[in-house]
Amino acid sequence: MKIAICTGGGDCPGLNVAIQVLVKQLRGKLNFEAYGIRGSFNGLMEQPPNLEPLEISDVTDIHMKGGTILGSSSSNNPYTSEAKELAITKTLNGFRKSNLDGVIVIGGEGTQGIAALLSERGLPVIGIPKTIDNDLPGTDITIGFSTASETIQKATEKLHSTAESHDRVMVLEVMGRNNGSLALEGGLAGNAHVILLPEIPFKIEFVIDKIMARKKAGRKFSVIVVAEGAFEFGDEPLYQKTPDQKVVLGGIGKQLADKVQKLTKMETRVTVLGHLQRGGVPNLNDKLLAAKFADHAVNLLTKKNFGKYLGICKGEVVEHEYKELVRGKGKPLSLNNEYVRVAENSGICLGRPLKFSIN
Ligand code: F6P
Repeated sequence: MKIAICTGGGDCPGLNVAIQVLVKQLRGKLNFEAYGIRGSFNGLMEQPPNLEPLEISDVTDIHMKGGTILGSSSSNNPYTSEAKELAITKTLNGFRKSNLDGVIVIGGEGTQGIAALLSERGLPVIGIPKTIDNDLPGTDITIGFSTASETIQKATEKLHSTAESHDRVMVLEVMGRNNGSLALEGGLAGNAHVILLPEIPFKIEFVIDKIMARKKAGRKFSVIVVAEGAFEFGDEPLYQKTPDQKVVLGGIGKQLADKVQKLTKMETRVTVLGHLQRGGVPNLNDKLLAAKFADHAVNLLTKKNFGKYLGICKGEVVEHEYKELVRGKGKPLSLNNEYVRVAENSGICLGRPLKFSIN
């Protein structure tokens, strides 16, 4: 068989591990031909299709690299615009012209939505979930989430010492789109004092109460982790424009820091962690997860069992039909998540009243 691999959407740590395991198994175990599509599905629309052969020697060291050796694309999605039909036809033509037998796509919600569309039109595709945001339906965890959470944890810990030295409040704005998983797990592991999530619209008075209670207890500094999609009760998420005019979530960190400074009279600083969360070498969890998904995808492939995207449920790989995927619907963090409970039981303010005053 001749199989192509592609990566789509925002990059994340772990993509190269999935590519490495796929190529090793496709070429070494099955003696299949393996190709990479450059720049996500867009590569299939190019004339000629932008494919590169992948040998085991091409992937030997890539588990130690962040990002994706195949490149990605997360802006100007042609499959949602007026030219959608044309994009679908061009992609399917590119697939046929390349004499491919199947595509394995490693992507988040947007890319898996495109894969679902193409699968409906006959593209033999298998999907592996990735995104630092962990907001993909059908899976408990996605490739990239663990490493990005660890980056947040480390940043939160670093802010602790500088906050303490200067008796300051530090606000750390983190990614995650409309899902608070990254903020919650990274902030909890880094022992933030306040964590604000999109799923719990916060009231500023509870944030201020927490900071002042800590001050009264002799701890004259506080660290707040705020998700980019978080917003005050009665308000809406904040958006801003990137230099290339893309509209993205952001700005809540600065808005919150200004309010905290005004209401507490404590020196307050804001850090926007940004794309540092997407970069770097994957940690052990992400490497193992990527390897596990890739192994399962190859297994499906040998049975020509296409039209499936994978997930993890209670530690086991599960398969979903692409047609079950609800396109464009990111998954919110469940408020029954155990870490919501752990955080509040430990006195971490989530922007609502706390039962325990632990400062
Ligand atoms: O979906 C991943 C993500 O990093 C989000 O957390 C963030 O909102 C967005 O992508 C940033 O997009 P871009 O890389 O286009 O700035």
